[in-house]
Amino acid sequence: MLRGKSLLCLLDFSKQEIEKMMDVSFMMKNYVYTGNTPKLLEGKSVALIFEKPSTRTRVSTELAIRKLGGISIVLSKGELQLSRGEPVEDTARVLGRFVDGIGARVLDHKSLIIMSEYSKKPVINLLSDIAHPLQALSDYMTIKEKFGKYETVTFVGDGGDNVLISLMAFAAKLGLELRVASPKEYKPKQEIWKRIEEEAEKSGAIIEFYEDPYEAVRGSMVIYTDVWVSMGQEKIGEEKKKKLSQYKVSRDLMRYASKDAIFLHCLPAVRGEEVEAEVIDGPQSAVWDQAENRLYTAMSVFSLLI
Ligand code: CP
Ligand code: NVA
Repeated sequence: MLRGKSLLCLLDFSKQEIEKMMDVSFMMKNYVYTGNTPKLLEGKSVALIFEKPSTRTRVSTELAIRKLGGISIVLSKGELQLSRGEPVEDTARVLGRFVDGIGARVLDHKSLIIMSEYSKKPVINLLSDIAHPLQALSDYMTIKEKFGKYETVTFVGDGGDNVLISLMAFAAKLGLELRVASPKEYKPKQEIWKRIEEEAEKSGAIIEFYEDPYEAVRGSMVIYTDVWVSMGQEKIGEEKKKKLSQYKVSRDLMRYASKDAIFLHCLPAVRGEEVEAEVIDGPQSAVWDQAENRLYTAMSVFSLLI
């Protein structure tokens, strides 16, 4: 049911489809640990395009495809004619003739929409300005691994963050509670927020914004943050840092969460900025398990869609 479909945003999938991606992620982890990975992508090839830097996504997606028996071709923007002005449409048309799927990390989400329209092969979002679906799948996988269920997440920081939007999409589809501690002016763009709200209404999810981070984290089992200045936002970086200075995940803030709470961060992190070193490097941090799970969710998504 999922084969051939593009993954640009989790909002485009049903609850059952997302649950399937999660079940297969756990299966993939088990296969890797037992040395039994089935070659589900044998004979298949995938182009992985990066318009921005990446460590986790770059390595986890390429390895995911190879472990499943497929071929991956990693392309940075600079080595494609895209960097000399060839249209995204033409790039997608051509790549779609060569490969069985395209993964892309793009500056502008619209490029992914164009790629999926012109490539005739599934396109998988490896991060855009408004979504990072593979990250959110790994995050909720980590939560389920730690607690046996999808606990309430409190995100502290930039309320318009791309990773947060994917966490919201997951929560909205599955009917979960998600709290956001952020200054009032940082919110997802109206168009995407409308879709999240509609899905939350249908599923019974509760997505709430707080200005006071201490109130937001109270009793929460999962405290999550991301960088204050995302890739591509460097120009407004100083302004964002000032406005977000009260939204650092500190040891003090962690005391207001549940005593069994875990700390998550998609990484890369800036210690001393959005999170204190003592938190990310401390006993409540689950960020390395979270990063490892990127491999299994990538294996799940690529094997299901391609
Ligand atoms: N979390 C994440 O996507 O990391 P990279 O930017 O290193 O891929
Ligand atoms: N919000 C961050 C996530 C990095 C994985 C960024 O877009 O830079």
